[in-house]
Amino acid sequence: MSAPLPSIVIQGTGAFCPPKVLSNDDLAKRVDTSDEWIRTRTGIQERRIAEDKTTSQMAVEAAKQALQNANLSAQDIDLVIVSTITPDMPFPSTAALVQAQLGIPAVACFDLEAACSGFLYALEVGTQMLRSGNYKNALLIGAEKMSSIIDWEDRNTCVLFGDGAGAVVLSKTEEADTGVLGTLLGADGSKGDLLCMPGSGSSCPPTQTSLEQRQHFLKMNGREIFKSAVRVMEQATCDILKQHQLSTSDVACIVPHQANIRIFETLAERLELPLDRFFMNLESYGNTSAASIPIALHEAWEQNRLKPGDLILLVAFGGGLTWGSSLIRWQ
Ligand code: UT7
Repeated sequence: MSAPLPSIVIQGTGAFCPPKVLSNDDLAKRVDTSDEWIRTRTGIQERRIAEDKTTSQMAVEAAKQALQNANLSAQDIDLVIVSTITPDMPFPSTAALVQAQLGIPAVACFDLEAACSGFLYALEVGTQMLRSGNYKNALLIGAEKMSSIIDWEDRNTCVLFGDGAGAVVLSKTEEADTGVLGTLLGADGSKGDLLCMPGSGSSCPPTQTSLEQRQHFLKMNGREIFKSAVRVMEQATCDILKQHQLSTSDVACIVPHQANIRIFETLAERLELPLDRFFMNLESYGNTSAASIPIALHEAWEQNRLKPGDLILLVAFGGGLTWGSSLIRWQ
């Protein structure tokens, strides 16, 4: 008989949200919008802006807190994965910049990009690398400076996003049947143009024309993304529960990607769950892309919403299009 798989557990969480607050009223002074429209259509009241802090600097702050909560030091980390669509620069990776700032030893460091689903992609990659036996403690970070790719003249998108970072320390333990029970991931590249940033890559390097055409900003077809988000997040939730022979009633807390309160309301209705089963903090931070789930996870833990033995479900959806769901037995 083969030995049981080691459990991969979240040892500690951390988050950093920059202090500068941008309220809905502040935005209404820049574009044709209102606090009332933003609140009722999205649930967002304010978001944070990094100003002169970079993505890696926010990631470092979140990571320090996660290490402290895990009772580990930078020397204990043997793998760093940063999920981001707003790296400090194309290379070196933000993970390598974080390694240098934290004094982490000369271990594997890389960035992973799956937009708003990025943290769940990092969780799956980190879990499988720890399971391989070659790593013991991984630092997984979702960090975004969305304010650097937002078109502040586009009211369709500028009201939605914010900056921040969340981190977890993922560790291998001998304890059985706890921690990350499984993750499902998916993507549909044929719908990539619904949420994208056309410029800045090899197909559209910066030129006078691309700058004038505002190609270096995020573009989104909100209505289509909304429809896909609801359908895919429901499917990803049902699929992972079915795979583990569990039902929605077994889940103590759902920590979803924080995009729009109306997505949660529709999901709650379709899954026949009370809305308070969903952890929400989008009113304070807006959509922080890959940072949203690890920030929410940290705040849910801080607020005592995650208790030992609880079944926690993470679910995300974003550009790519990408999606994912994860089941965690909290320890
Ligand atoms: O993280 C990745 C996942 N992202 C998402 O999940 C985002 C998903 N999409 C959404 O959350 C929603 O589609 C939005 C919040 C982006 C938009 O809400 P909506 O209810 O789908 O509005 P809409 O796009 O259908 O626009 C309705 C109206 C339009 O005006 P008309 O054409 O009816 O005259 C828009 O021009 O609202 C207008 N509008 C605004 N009005 C005031 C769009 N943005 C704004 C705004 N302030 N900021």
